[in-house]
Parts: sequence; C-alpha cells; structure tokens
Amino acid sequence: MRFDVLTLFPDFIRNMEDYGVIGKSIQKEIIELNAVNIRDYSLDKHRRVDDIIYGGGAGMLMTPQPIFDAVESLDKRQGPVIYLSPQGKVLTQDLCKKLSEYPQLILLCGHYEGIDARVLHEVVDEEVSIGDYVLTGGELGAMVLIDAVSRMIPGVLGNEESAVSDSHYQTLLQYDSYTRPREYKGMKVPQVLLDGNHKKIEEWRNENAVENTKKKRPDLYQRYLQERIERD
Ligand code: ADE
Repeated sequence: MRFDVLTLFPDFIRNMEDYGVIGKSIQKEIIELNAVNIRDYSLDKHRRVDDIIYGGGAGMLMTPQPIFDAVESLDKRQGPVIYLSPQGKVLTQDLCKKLSEYPQLILLCGHYEGIDARVLHEVVDEEVSIGDYVLTGGELGAMVLIDAVSRMIPGVLGNEESAVSDSHYQTLLQYDSYTRPREYKGMKVPQVLLDGNHKKIEEWRNENAVENTKKKRPDLYQRYLQERIERD
C-alpha cells in the first residue's frame, strides 16, 4: 500500500516513520508513505495556497490550482483521492478494511475554511471524517486513517490473528485480558484463565465480551442482539 498525503505540513505527517508498527512497516516496505507539500505546487510568487471566499464570509479557502497540480504530479493512480473533512462519511472498521484493499490511497488534507468546491467536484472521490468533531486541519484525520487502514494489511501486525479478534472487527468489544502476576495489590486474575480448560476459557471470554459491550457500548450491544436474532 502506498499513501500519498497532500498537505501543508509534510514533516508532521513524516513523524509516522518513527511510529511503532507503522514505522516498522514502512522500513519493511509493506507500506509506503509519501508526504507531498501542496505549497510546492503553488504558482503564486509568494507560494500562497489560500484566498478569499467569493460571496463573502469569514476566513479563507484553499485555492484549486496547487491541489489540482499536486494530484496530477502523482504518477500512475491506483486508488481514490480521499478528502479528510468533518462532512465526510465516518471512518469505521468496515471502511478501513475496504480501503486496505487498494494499492494506493491519496489523502488530501484541508486547512482554513476548507477547499474550493471545484476540487471537491473534480478531484475528490470520497470524503471521510474520523468522527463528529472538528479538527483544525485534515492531517490528524489522515494519520488516523493511515494507522487504522495499515493494520488491516497482511504483514503489518505481527500476529495475523490480532486484527481479526479486535474490538470492532466483529460487533462485540474485547474480553478482559490479564498478564502476570496472578495477584496484584489484592486483585486476582479470574481462576478460569489459569486452569487451562480451553472450552471453559472460550466460554468465559465470550460472556465477558458480551458484558463489556453491554456496559461500555449499549448501541453496539443492541446491534449484537439484532444480529443474533437475524442469524438464529
Ligand atoms: N478535518 C477537520 N475535521 C475533521 C474530521 N472530523 N475528520 C477528518 N478530517 C477533518
């Protein structure tokens, strides 16, 4: 997978090269991260990339020319141009999985009051939001997307099982897990996990996952109940 990130802050994006599993996957060339500075494509003599909004209104907008040219500069396109914005469809685990199947994603990060509508209409294939809140720019959205999509790519996580058993990969949240010691400050690891009866352990984990979901995410719990009714 290759991520091309069009941004005004390429060095901020490049910090991901030092970031845990993502950094290692870049080194191993499982993923490629190419941060492109939109400002490098400005034809303005002061390298400006923003301008006033026609019709009035506060703030500035990103102008179309540097963005059109930056996108065109990318060699052979093998995936969608995604604009990170609070107006997009919300990023879910399902969407991450779908996006992970492309060989390339082009991520466009906005600033100021947004981008000229001609970019939205002609260049952008999909608008994606990382949640219902407003960031100062798209970069953190792009980094969240890169992280969540990358871990769905085979070879990025050491243990292939971990992505499948994750929270949100199925409807249920995770069960509680424990490591050593068996007792810490008087708090004990549930006995069933120490006994080595794999069937009992699986039952306990399943019940615990259901309990956790009911407690922490009643909305997901309702979906789980609904899915069970439909299945049976
Ligand atoms: N840019 C500003 N807010 C955003 C959000 N919630 N998601 C993605 N990009 C954004």
